[in-house]
Amino acid sequence: MNQAQMKQAVGQAAVELIRPQLDSDSIVGVGTGSTANCFIDALAQIKTEFDGAVASSEATAARLKSHGIPVYDLNTVSNLDVYVDGADESDHHLHLIKGGGAALTREKIVAAVAKTFVCIADQSKLVDVLGAFPLPVEVIPMARSHVARELVKLGGDPVYREGCVTDNGNIILDVHNLSIVDPAQLERDINAIVGVVTNGLFAARPADVLLLGTPDGVKTLK
Ligand code: 5RP
Repeated sequence: MNQAQMKQAVGQAAVELIRPQLDSDSIVGVGTGSTANCFIDALAQIKTEFDGAVASSEATAARLKSHGIPVYDLNTVSNLDVYVDGADESDHHLHLIKGGGAALTREKIVAAVAKTFVCIADQSKLVDVLGAFPLPVEVIPMARSHVARELVKLGGDPVYREGCVTDNGNIILDVHNLSIVDPAQLERDINAIVGVVTNGLFAARPADVLLLGTPDGVKTLK
């Protein structure tokens, strides 16, 4: 199985995992990225078995709608049983780095509301220590230089993501050269910098389940 096939396999596996709990009132939280897109395409095959979805980005909303899946504003949804999304890295505690697609803030909001967060990824994303993937930080544009200086004090090398404006109208700093031994503490420390909207560490709210695509099939980590 190549990487694309592994992404398709975990997208399909996520649908099979959540299908038994769906009913005609169910709203599904849906993430962003190429692996999430595989999930969306598989979810579309059972679109008559649930009500609709909440999207973590404009791109995901557009893909869901293209399949005829109704997309709801999160503010109109009182109950979200499950959120399915990809990741840029996961450690063995299911702490994640996300935001390679710049959707980290909306992803973190939807994950916070959902009762269960199912992460889907190919095996290249599983690491012992987070940080080889540069940590995305969403920043209010006028705070860019201030936040960058503070990130250097935390030991990182922030790089402005050229040409990237998030769905919320903000910019992204990608923080290189971090070895993240305490993800929950670093998540708090970065979020405490004035001007940071949020950062791509999902440690305070990790995934509950990781469906990992491998050449031997999909493995489940909890
Ligand atoms: C987007 C994300 C994605 O989940 C992450 O970048 C993984 O993407 P892909 O499935 O394309 O590898 O966090 O903000």
